[in-house]
Amino acid sequence: MSYPDFVKIVEVGARDGLQNEPGIVPTETKVMLIEKLADCGLQMIEAAAFVSAKWVPQMADASEVFAAIHRKPGVVYSALTPNLKGLEAALAAGVGEVAVFAAASESFSQKNINCSIEESFERFKPVCKAAGEAGVQVRGYVSCVLDCPYEGAIDPAVVADVSLRLVEAGCYEVSLGDTIGRGTPGRAMALVERVGRDISVDRIAVHFHDTYGQALANIHAVLQLGVATVDSSVAGLGGCPYAKGASGNVATEDVLYMLTGLGIRTDVDMAGLMEASTFICSKLNRKPASKVAQALSGSLA
Ligand code: HMG
Ligand code: MG
Repeated sequence: MSYPDFVKIVEVGARDGLQNEPGIVPTETKVMLIEKLADCGLQMIEAAAFVSAKWVPQMADASEVFAAIHRKPGVVYSALTPNLKGLEAALAAGVGEVAVFAAASESFSQKNINCSIEESFERFKPVCKAAGEAGVQVRGYVSCVLDCPYEGAIDPAVVADVSLRLVEAGCYEVSLGDTIGRGTPGRAMALVERVGRDISVDRIAVHFHDTYGQALANIHAVLQLGVATVDSSVAGLGGCPYAKGASGNVATEDVLYMLTGLGIRTDVDMAGLMEASTFICSKLNRKPASKVAQALSGSLA
């Protein structure tokens, strides 16, 4: 077992992080956050979601966010698009990449996107086709890869099946989401091994929420299986509106600290990342969930 030389960090703070905020975060704050995230070297930034504003009011300004950001060359600014309506708005806004989001649990699929897993693929297929025609890559998410808040433990074979279907629909990468953050390293490894039988491991990304404090341990475990793409959220912001009790994603600061300590290259600068973390925490009036950010800012003392 060995580690990858380079890990791609997919920064989801501006989307997954902010989507669950109770108060509406001003567009200007989102834009400043995204620009700071790009400035510290992050090259994949999920900036917004083109979803129904009735379902997720916090993402209602997705087009305005995309219109306002100064784009840094080499950085991909992406967005969630659950259907063709979302894709059309995303393409009009000039997104660099889009993501469709499926689930490995029927109940979660219904709660999150108001349709069955089967129906969700009927929506994703035309999204992938139209995105392809527009020259925009599509990422796929699978939620509830280990546990579902409504159904409990999920069978890895089901996750593998949904992942394969996403690839067959045209997704270049599948991000495995431990939506409620209950996973532990052994189960995470077993999952990656199972999904890796159906799609190649270089197409697998991991997306751990940190509800039970296991996210870094889970990432460390799956890095040794060849996973080299990790989703994380600055300051550990976040949660999912349709997964009650789920906490934020693993913090980007914590992931970066661990990867750097392991000698793995990311091209992300910690000082710049801390600036983004301090900025958004001051705007949201809270301490970062990241232990590393707390230590570096002296607030652990
Ligand atoms: P629906 O109600 O079934 O859709 O929602 P519909 O087609 O019947 O449309 C209903 C209304 O929504 C209509 O408006 C449409 O125009 C509008 P009305 O006529 O009532 O005024 N609409 C839209 N508006 C804006 N953008 C769109 C769009 N589509 C329809 N794209 C829908 C289906 C998918 C739209 C809805 O369920 C939805 O928006 N869900 C959002 C769910 C969401 O964003 N969840 C959080 C992100 S996923 C996540 O966090 C997990 C992840 O992080 C991984 C992990 O941790 O596991 C990715
Ligand atoms: Mg998530």
